[in-house]
Amino acid sequence: MACKRGALIVLEGVDKAGKTTQCKKLVHALQQSGCPAEMMRFPERTTTIGQLISAYLENKSDLEDHTVHLLFSANRWELVPLMKKKLEQGTTLVVDRYAFSGVAFTSAKPGFCLEWCMKPDVGLPKPDLVMFLQLSPAEAALRGQFGEERYETSVFQRAVQQKFEQLMKDPSVNWRAIDASQSVEDVHENITTHSLNTIDAAENLPLGELCG
Ligand code: TMP
Repeated sequence: MACKRGALIVLEGVDKAGKTTQCKKLVHALQQSGCPAEMMRFPERTTTIGQLISAYLENKSDLEDHTVHLLFSANRWELVPLMKKKLEQGTTLVVDRYAFSGVAFTSAKPGFCLEWCMKPDVGLPKPDLVMFLQLSPAEAALRGQFGEERYETSVFQRAVQQKFEQLMKDPSVNWRAIDASQSVEDVHENITTHSLNTIDAAENLPLGELCG
Protein backbone atom coordinates (compact mmCIF):
# COMPACT_ATOMS: atom_id res chain seq x y z
CA MET A 1 0.00 0.00 0.00
CA ALA A 2 1.32 3.46 -0.91
CA CYS A 3 2.45 5.55 2.07
CA LYS A 4 0.16 8.45 2.97
CA ARG A 5 1.73 11.79 2.18
CA GLY A 6 2.76 14.37 4.75
CA ALA A 7 1.23 17.82 4.89
CA LEU A 8 2.94 21.06 3.86
CA ILE A 9 2.32 23.54 6.67
CA VAL A 10 3.64 27.11 6.51
CA LEU A 11 3.92 29.75 9.22
CA GLU A 12 4.04 33.35 8.08
CA GLY A 13 3.92 36.66 9.91
CA VAL A 14 5.81 39.86 10.52
CA ASP A 15 8.96 39.92 12.64
CA LYS A 16 8.54 39.26 16.37
CA ALA A 17 5.36 37.26 15.84
CA GLY A 18 7.04 34.10 17.13
CA LYS A 19 7.13 32.02 13.92
CA THR A 20 10.40 30.22 14.61
CA THR A 21 9.50 29.36 18.22
CA GLN A 22 6.12 28.05 17.10
CA CYS A 23 7.57 26.03 14.19
CA LYS A 24 9.97 24.29 16.57
CA LYS A 25 7.26 23.59 19.15
CA LEU A 26 4.91 22.27 16.48
CA VAL A 27 7.49 19.88 15.02
CA HIS A 28 8.31 18.62 18.51
CA ALA A 29 4.62 18.10 19.38
CA LEU A 30 3.92 16.28 16.10
CA GLN A 31 6.92 14.01 16.57
CA GLN A 32 5.84 13.27 20.16
CA SER A 33 2.42 12.26 18.90
CA GLY A 34 4.01 9.81 16.45
CA CYS A 35 3.60 11.93 13.34
CA PRO A 36 6.82 12.23 11.28
CA ALA A 37 7.57 15.94 10.95
CA GLU A 38 10.52 18.14 10.07
CA MET A 39 11.14 21.87 10.06
CA MET A 40 12.36 23.85 7.06
CA ARG A 41 12.89 27.59 6.72
CA PHE A 42 13.19 30.10 3.92
CA PRO A 43 15.52 31.60 3.09
CA GLU A 44 17.57 28.41 3.48
CA ARG A 45 20.89 30.17 3.96
CA THR A 46 23.19 27.14 3.64
CA THR A 47 23.01 26.74 -0.15
CA THR A 48 25.07 28.79 -2.63
CA ILE A 49 21.99 30.90 -3.44
CA GLY A 50 21.13 31.10 0.26
CA GLN A 51 24.57 32.52 1.03
CA LEU A 52 24.05 35.32 -1.53
CA ILE A 53 20.71 36.10 0.13
CA SER A 54 22.20 35.98 3.61
CA ALA A 55 24.98 38.44 2.71
CA TYR A 56 22.32 40.77 1.26
CA LEU A 57 20.15 40.55 4.39
CA GLU A 58 23.15 41.20 6.61
CA ASN A 59 23.94 44.32 4.52
CA LYS A 60 27.28 42.81 3.49
CA SER A 61 26.33 43.09 -0.18
CA ASP A 62 23.85 44.99 -2.31
CA LEU A 63 21.66 43.36 -4.92
CA GLU A 64 19.21 44.92 -7.34
CA ASP A 65 15.64 44.48 -6.00
CA HIS A 66 14.27 42.28 -8.85
CA THR A 67 17.41 40.17 -8.70
CA VAL A 68 17.13 39.44 -5.00
CA HIS A 69 13.44 38.64 -5.38
CA LEU A 70 14.30 36.03 -8.01
CA LEU A 71 17.07 34.63 -5.80
CA PHE A 72 14.60 34.16 -2.91
CA SER A 73 12.32 32.27 -5.30
CA ALA A 74 15.22 30.22 -6.73
CA ASN A 75 16.13 29.30 -3.15
CA ARG A 76 12.66 27.77 -2.77
CA TRP A 77 12.80 26.01 -6.15
CA GLU A 78 16.16 24.40 -5.38
CA LEU A 79 14.59 22.72 -2.31
CA VAL A 80 11.48 21.45 -4.17
CA PRO A 81 12.85 17.97 -5.03
CA LEU A 82 13.73 17.41 -1.35
CA MET A 83 10.38 18.77 -0.15
CA LYS A 84 8.44 16.51 -2.53
CA LYS A 85 10.50 13.48 -1.54
CA LYS A 86 9.86 14.05 2.16
CA LEU A 87 6.15 14.72 1.68
CA GLU A 88 5.78 11.58 -0.44
CA GLN A 89 7.57 9.58 2.25
CA GLY A 90 4.90 10.70 4.72
CA THR A 91 6.85 13.44 6.53
CA THR A 92 4.94 16.59 7.37
CA LEU A 93 6.97 19.72 6.67
CA VAL A 94 6.60 22.73 8.95
CA VAL A 95 8.02 25.69 7.05
CA ASP A 96 9.15 28.99 8.59
CA ARG A 97 8.28 31.52 5.78
CA TYR A 98 7.53 30.63 2.15
CA ALA A 99 6.50 32.33 -1.08
CA PHE A 100 4.08 34.65 0.76
CA SER A 101 6.99 36.33 2.56
CA GLY A 102 8.67 36.65 -0.82
CA VAL A 103 5.68 38.49 -2.28
CA ALA A 104 4.90 40.58 0.82
CA PHE A 105 8.46 41.83 1.34
CA THR A 106 9.26 42.68 -2.30
CA SER A 107 5.86 44.21 -3.06
CA ALA A 108 6.31 46.48 -0.03
CA LYS A 109 9.16 48.13 -1.97
CA PRO A 110 8.34 50.98 -4.34
CA GLY A 111 7.65 50.02 -7.97
CA PHE A 112 6.55 46.41 -7.40
CA CYS A 113 3.07 44.91 -7.84
CA LEU A 114 1.76 41.69 -6.31
CA GLU A 115 1.24 40.08 -9.73
CA TRP A 116 4.88 40.43 -10.81
CA CYS A 117 6.11 39.28 -7.41
CA MET A 118 3.95 36.13 -7.46
CA LYS A 119 5.04 34.92 -10.93
CA PRO A 120 8.38 33.22 -10.09
CA ASP A 121 6.74 31.06 -7.39
CA VAL A 122 3.90 29.80 -9.61
CA GLY A 123 4.08 25.98 -9.64
CA LEU A 124 5.79 25.57 -6.25
CA PRO A 125 4.21 22.96 -3.96
CA LYS A 126 1.10 24.55 -2.50
CA PRO A 127 0.85 24.53 1.29
CA ASP A 128 -2.06 22.58 2.73
CA LEU A 129 -2.26 25.26 5.43
CA VAL A 130 -0.74 28.72 5.88
CA MET A 131 -1.02 30.14 9.39
CA PHE A 132 -0.47 33.87 9.66
CA LEU A 133 0.70 34.90 13.12
CA GLN A 134 -1.03 38.20 13.63
CA LEU A 135 0.53 40.84 15.87
CA SER A 136 -0.09 44.58 15.81
CA PRO A 137 2.94 46.85 15.27
CA ALA A 138 2.40 48.19 18.84
CA GLU A 139 2.54 44.67 20.32
CA ALA A 140 5.57 43.81 18.18
CA ALA A 141 7.35 46.91 19.53
CA LEU A 142 6.69 45.73 23.11
CA ARG A 143 8.63 42.55 22.31
CA GLY A 144 11.84 44.55 21.93
CA GLN A 145 14.04 46.14 19.32
CA PHE A 146 14.23 44.90 15.76
CA GLY A 147 17.50 43.24 14.74
CA GLU A 148 20.23 44.57 12.52
CA GLU A 149 19.23 42.93 9.25
CA ARG A 150 17.81 44.64 6.19
CA TYR A 151 13.98 45.09 6.38
CA GLU A 152 13.99 45.16 10.22
CA THR A 153 12.41 48.59 10.68
CA SER A 154 8.92 49.30 11.96
CA VAL A 155 8.01 51.41 8.90
CA PHE A 156 8.89 48.62 6.46
CA GLN A 157 7.29 45.91 8.64
CA ARG A 158 4.04 47.89 8.63
CA ALA A 159 4.08 48.00 4.82
CA VAL A 160 4.79 44.25 4.75
CA GLN A 161 1.87 43.58 7.11
CA GLN A 162 -0.49 45.40 4.72
CA LYS A 163 0.75 43.26 1.82
CA PHE A 164 0.15 40.07 3.85
CA GLU A 165 -3.39 41.29 4.54
CA GLN A 166 -3.95 41.61 0.78
CA LEU A 167 -2.50 38.14 0.17
CA MET A 168 -4.75 36.62 2.84
CA LYS A 169 -7.79 37.56 0.75
CA ASP A 170 -6.81 34.91 -1.83
CA PRO A 171 -9.41 32.14 -1.38
CA SER A 172 -7.30 29.63 -3.31
CA VAL A 173 -4.90 29.45 -0.33
CA ASN A 174 -5.93 27.82 2.97
CA TRP A 175 -5.09 30.77 5.26
CA ARG A 176 -5.70 30.76 9.01
CA ALA A 177 -5.10 33.92 11.01
CA ILE A 178 -3.67 33.15 14.45
CA ASP A 179 -3.72 35.69 17.28
CA ALA A 180 -0.02 35.82 18.18
CA SER A 181 -0.60 38.15 21.14
CA GLN A 182 -1.74 35.15 23.25
CA SER A 183 0.75 33.25 25.42
CA VAL A 184 3.28 31.00 23.65
CA GLU A 185 1.39 27.93 24.95
CA ASP A 186 -2.03 29.17 23.80
CA VAL A 187 -0.70 30.00 20.33
CA HIS A 188 0.94 26.57 20.21
CA GLU A 189 -2.30 24.81 21.13
CA ASN A 190 -4.19 26.71 18.45
CA ILE A 191 -1.56 25.96 15.79
CA THR A 192 -1.35 22.29 16.75
CA THR A 193 -5.13 21.83 16.46
CA HIS A 194 -5.20 23.36 12.96
CA SER A 195 -2.15 21.33 11.93
CA LEU A 196 -3.53 17.96 13.09
CA ASN A 197 -6.78 18.59 11.19
CA THR A 198 -4.78 19.51 8.09
CA ILE A 199 -2.51 16.45 8.33
CA ASP A 200 -5.60 14.19 8.46
CA ALA A 201 -7.20 15.89 5.46
CA ALA A 202 -4.01 16.10 3.36
CA GLU A 203 -3.45 12.32 3.51
CA ASN A 204 -6.20 11.84 0.96
CA LEU A 205 -5.53 14.86 -1.25
CA PRO A 206 -2.95 15.37 -3.99
CA LEU A 207 -0.28 17.99 -3.35
CA GLY A 208 -1.32 21.18 -5.15
CA GLU A 209 0.70 23.86 -6.96
CA LEU A 210 0.78 27.57 -6.21
CA CYS A 211 -1.04 29.57 -8.83
CA GLY A 212 -0.54 33.19 -9.86
P1 TMP B 1 14.55 35.35 8.81
O1 TMP B 1 15.64 34.40 8.36
O2 TMP B 1 14.85 36.01 10.10
O3 TMP B 1 13.19 34.78 8.72
O4 TMP B 1 14.64 36.59 7.82
C1 TMP B 1 14.58 36.51 6.46
C2 TMP B 1 14.30 37.88 5.92
O5 TMP B 1 14.11 37.78 4.51
C3 TMP B 1 13.03 38.53 6.47
O6 TMP B 1 13.24 39.92 6.61
C4 TMP B 1 12.02 38.29 5.37
C5 TMP B 1 12.85 38.30 4.12
N1 TMP B 1 12.34 37.47 3.02
C6 TMP B 1 12.17 38.05 1.76
O7 TMP B 1 12.38 39.25 1.59
N2 TMP B 1 11.77 37.26 0.73
C7 TMP B 1 11.53 35.91 0.89
O8 TMP B 1 11.18 35.21 -0.08
C8 TMP B 1 11.70 35.34 2.21
C9 TMP B 1 11.46 33.88 2.40
C10 TMP B 1 12.11 36.15 3.24
